[in-house]
Amino acid sequence: MKQYRFFGWELADCAPVSGEYPGIGSPKQLYDALLHIWCAETCAPRMRESWSPDNPTLGQCSVTAFLVQDIFGGRVFGILRPGGNYHCYNVIGDRKFDLTSEQFGGETLCYDGNPEQFREVHFAKAEKRQRYEQLCAALKAYCSAQRKEASMRILTAYFSAGGVTKLVAQRLAKAVGAEEFEIVPQEPYTEADIKWVNPLARCNREKIGKKDVPFVGAVENIRDYDLILLGFPIWYYGAPNIVATFLKQHDLSGKRIGLFATSGGSDIGKTGEKLKQFLGEGAEIVGAKLFAPDTDAETLAAWAEMLGKSE
Ligand SMILES: Cc1cc2nc3c(=O)[nH]c(=O)nc-3n(C[C@H](O)[C@H](O)[C@H](O)COP(=O)(O)O)c2cc1C
Repeated sequence: MKQYRFFGWELADCAPVSGEYPGIGSPKQLYDALLHIWCAETCAPRMRESWSPDNPTLGQCSVTAFLVQDIFGGRVFGILRPGGNYHCYNVIGDRKFDLTSEQFGGETLCYDGNPEQFREVHFAKAEKRQRYEQLCAALKAYCSAQRKEASMRILTAYFSAGGVTKLVAQRLAKAVGAEEFEIVPQEPYTEADIKWVNPLARCNREKIGKKDVPFVGAVENIRDYDLILLGFPIWYYGAPNIVATFLKQHDLSGKRIGLFATSGGSDIGKTGEKLKQFLGEGAEIVGAKLFAPDTDAETLAAWAEMLGKSE
């Protein structure tokens, strides 16, 4: 059995009374989800400066306890703290638990004889109500992303000559739980090969000759993927020839494809239009986006999630 450290965790396994948050089947599962969601913005303003991912439950008690009540019913009680604020926790039947108790470290709180807390009173403060609404919205988004991820298989296939696109592709794959395939040229590009200022460089010869560029291996089970995220550096305002070669050699009919790229400044432009001719029947490019090399995982995941949802 997985061990938790919040007060009352041993009995925090009651069933939800609301179906609003699919996938949240017990307070313990809610706690696991909230670990991804609690943040400085959902923390009480007076403690916000001290909030950190190492102490995620800090300042989250009332908004969390009322969210627990939404999902699992029961009542919310409060322990009077020095300074006059109440620390909120939940009571459901004969079960008492406190998802945010860890913020008090080793201190033992008394969970008996405390006054009941009411949302009308707590949410009279607009600031607190907003934090609660933010927590609810973030949990809904989390539940829907989890369900999508569980049912959707994503492949991130990418070509990268200098490593910039590779970093973005790997961050993206990790953020969405995608499998990775690196499109590696059979004959690796040397620095001289991609020196486009030299008219005789390999990259220019390939471009002008519209040459295919053989790559190592293949994605064997491409039919199993629901969404294919295809990444590359922008070369000559479009995708390098090796990307077209990759598309020609895989049957992507019926697939949803998202294109992503890095560049020296050009946008992704009409790259998708140009690649369409190499796609199978019914394959659809559902998005195309240029990313800065330092784009964070959250932004990348949000983009992929949007592609997964788009009609
Ligand atoms: C042959 C070649 C052509 C390029 N053409 C363009 C271009 O048209 N527009 C642009 O903004 N950057 C262009 N770049 C720059 C790359 O898109 C950019 O440096 C990219 O981030 C490199 O990614 P990588 O490290 O994954 O290969 C070109 C680079 C090379 C080598």
